[in-house]
Amino acid sequence: MKVLLIGSGGREHALAWKIAQSPLLDALYAAPGNPGIADHARLVELNVEDHAAVIAFAKEKAIDFVVIGPEAPLVAGLADDLRAAGIATFGPSKAAAQLEGSKGFTKDLCARYDIPTGAYQRFKSAEPAKDYVRAQGAPIVIKADGLAAGKGVTVAMTEAEALAAINDCFDGAFGAAGAEVVVEAFLDGEEASFFCLSDGKTALALATAQDHKRVGDGDTGPNTGGMGAYSPAPVMTATMVERTMKEIIEPTISGMAKDGNPFSGVFFAGLMITAKGPELIEYNVRFGDPECQVLMMRLKSDLLPVLYATATGTLDRVDAEWRDEAALTVVLASKGYPGAYDKNTPIAHIPEASEEAKVFHAGTALKDDRLVATGGRVLNVTALGKTVTEAQAHAYALADRVEWENGFCRRDIGWQAVAREKA
Ligand code: AMP
Ligand code: GLY
Repeated sequence: MKVLLIGSGGREHALAWKIAQSPLLDALYAAPGNPGIADHARLVELNVEDHAAVIAFAKEKAIDFVVIGPEAPLVAGLADDLRAAGIATFGPSKAAAQLEGSKGFTKDLCARYDIPTGAYQRFKSAEPAKDYVRAQGAPIVIKADGLAAGKGVTVAMTEAEALAAINDCFDGAFGAAGAEVVVEAFLDGEEASFFCLSDGKTALALATAQDHKRVGDGDTGPNTGGMGAYSPAPVMTATMVERTMKEIIEPTISGMAKDGNPFSGVFFAGLMITAKGPELIEYNVRFGDPECQVLMMRLKSDLLPVLYATATGTLDRVDAEWRDEAALTVVLASKGYPGAYDKNTPIAHIPEASEEAKVFHAGTALKDDRLVATGGRVLNVTALGKTVTEAQAHAYALADRVEWENGFCRRDIGWQAVAREKA
């Protein structure tokens, strides 16, 4: 099979690494890719926003299958255009990608199909939203409807904070994403991420993970795209996984199909495990980054036929096997991230991979044949271990051998699981 992978982050490096191990693979191309991905794929300079150019390339190289990593091309309808051109594609349609693209869309789906989630209302102007907040009281959660790079959510502990967040949204702090606001009940519990494939009819549960959004140790400081993750998430017991499939994932799949938007791709469900059980916080319609890195480390099965079955409606014929070990990834970021940081700082050394540990590239480039850091999140040091504690020790031992002066990382990735393992 000839495969084209779209994307350039740590998530796509992990996907490329795993796809490259498939005996079914004849050739792997990545657009645009990164220097880590270049170890497994031929990099192609394609403007991914130019769907006609992607299709033309796929036809020229007789690509059998396209795997789309990030959300932006999905929300822009790249999967629809590729499928219309007769090319099998992993990733949901533009209509189904609204599960990530519009929080109001997802909340309405939950209401229609009785999927557990916080009580909510949608608003197109500030005054009625404020009246609702005053009636409900704090804590309460204010969300810009659209994609706001993870910054559009305020968990307001006081009414004043909630009212200020409503003003921010309608004053344009998140651009068009904030033209509509969802006000949602505060859910109390432990968060977990749940990954599951769907071909529009069948669901295949993958694995669970937990990430660390704050930049600082002890979960302090501003939010980021994710400073590290581990899998599995201990709060997701077998019972919780079963309930999530039955109460959240299955009604979503049947509801989306009934509404004429069958979902094909990966569900990345953000869950709050409350006293009542799993409740949906949000859906993403792609693999998490860096959650994907720990999932790929733990996946025993060949990834390629599983993704292909998802894309071609044959998910009932495949299965996914997982290692019992835990995996943990530590993000090395440029000093200053998530604020301003220097670009093109030199990375002198990245240690060799083994079967148990690997450094994935997220924001790197080659400049005059030398590896430099170009992004905020730059490397994902990922390792397996019998326990999260052991995976954590392996990952930090490897991270300490990376030679990159301008890099930093959190030192406590996995702390909740480690504390549980000690208890
Ligand atoms: P989201 O972008 O919707 O995942 O929200 C970002 C973060 O805000 C989540 O990961 C949660 O930590 C928090 N959050 C979102 N919605 C709620 C809620 N209803 N109750 C409590 N925390 C929430
Ligand atoms: N790590 C969170 C995300 O990919 O959205």
